[in-house]
Amino acid sequence: MRILGVETSCDETALALVDITPGRAVLLGEALASQAAVHALFGGVVPEIASREHLRRLPLLFESVLERSGVAASSIQGVAVARGPGLLGALLAGVSFAKGLALGLDVPLVGVNHLEAHLLAAGLEQSLPLPAIGLLVSGGHTELARMDAGEGAYPEFVILGRTLDDAAGEAFDKCAKALNLPYPGGACLDALARLAREQPALPKSSSLFSPPYVDNDTLDFSFSGLKTAAMTAIQKQPGLRREALCSVEEALADGRREPELARFCGHFNMAVAQALEIKTRRALERHGDARSLILAGGVAANSLVRERLQALAVELGLAFVAPSPDLCTDNAAMVAHAGGLLLASGRRHALSLEAIPRGRA
Ligand code: KG4
Ligand code: ZN
Repeated sequence: MRILGVETSCDETALALVDITPGRAVLLGEALASQAAVHALFGGVVPEIASREHLRRLPLLFESVLERSGVAASSIQGVAVARGPGLLGALLAGVSFAKGLALGLDVPLVGVNHLEAHLLAAGLEQSLPLPAIGLLVSGGHTELARMDAGEGAYPEFVILGRTLDDAAGEAFDKCAKALNLPYPGGACLDALARLAREQPALPKSSSLFSPPYVDNDTLDFSFSGLKTAAMTAIQKQPGLRREALCSVEEALADGRREPELARFCGHFNMAVAQALEIKTRRALERHGDARSLILAGGVAANSLVRERLQALAVELGLAFVAPSPDLCTDNAAMVAHAGGLLLASGRRHALSLEAIPRGRA
C-alpha cells in the first residue's frame, strides 16, 4: 500500500511516500522544509509564522515528493497525517491539506499520533521486538511508554511516565539559548559536550549538576530544576555566554579554545542523560518481560543519551532500537509508516478528522 505522510506539528513541513507491505516498509521519497532559519530570528518557534509557512510550502513539497519518488499522484492509496500533539495552527495546516488530498484522490485518510509515530519510526529500518519500553525524547515531549503487540499491525501504547514541566529537548534548547548558541541548540550543545568527552578529565557523572528528579519512585521526568541550575551557573560565570549569537562552527572553535565552555556543556548533557537512563532502567525493571528498548525523538540523536541507553539495553540483554538521525527528528516518513500500520489494521478516519494539539491524539 502506497501511503503519503504529512507532518506539520511544529516547525518542519514534511511529506513522504512510503510503500507498506506486511512486515516491510520502504521509503520511496520525501521532501522536507525546515523553518529553523525563520524561527531562529526569534530564538524559538513562533506559532503564527509556523502555520503560514506550512500553508505556503505544502503544495510545493507535494510536487517535489512525487518527483523524487517517481510516482504519479493517482498511485497514492492512502493519506496519513500527524493530528497531534503539536501547535494547533500548524497541525490544522497539515490536516486540511491531507483531507483535501484524500478527498481529491478518493483514498482513505488516517490521523496519526505524532509521539507514537516517533516511537515506531525505527520500524522503517528494522523489526521492533515487542513488548518494548519506548523512550521518546523530543523538543516538546519526554515520555516513557510500554508498547505491546496490538490486534492488528498497530501496537498498543501505555504511557508510563512523562515530563512534569520542560521536555528534555526544551531543556537543551533553553540552556543553549542562555549560552547564546545557535537555535535549536540541542545538537550544538551535544557537539560541544563531545569535545569535553575527548578531554580525559571529564568524569562519567556530572559533578556540576545532579540528574534532576530521580530521588522518587515515579517514572515521570522534570527538567526545569536543571534548567534553573544551568541558568544560575551561567550567571555566576558570565564568560560561558557567547557575546553574540554564534554559528555551530564558531561555537566549536570556541569550545576548543575555551575548555570551560565545552566542560559546562558536557556536565549539562551528562545530567540529562543520567536522568533519562535512571528512569528508563526503572521502567525496564518494572516491565521485566520487555524484549527491546526503543529510543526515539530529536534528542535520540544525542550521542551521550544514545550511548548510555544502548549500554543499558546491552547490560539487560535487550535489543536496542533507535532510528537513524534523519528519522529521529520530525519527518513525514514516520507518519506515513504509522499511518500505514493503522490502515493495515482497518483503522481510518472520516473527513471530519480534527487536530488534537494536547493530550492523546
Ligand atoms: O523530535 P523533534 O525533531 O521535534 C519535536 O517533536 O519536538 O525534536 C527536536 C528537539 C530539539 O529540542 C533539538 O534541540 C533536540 O531535539 N535535538 C537534540 C539533538 N538533536 C536534536 N538534543 C540534544 N542533542 C542532539 N544531538
Ligand atoms: Zn516530534
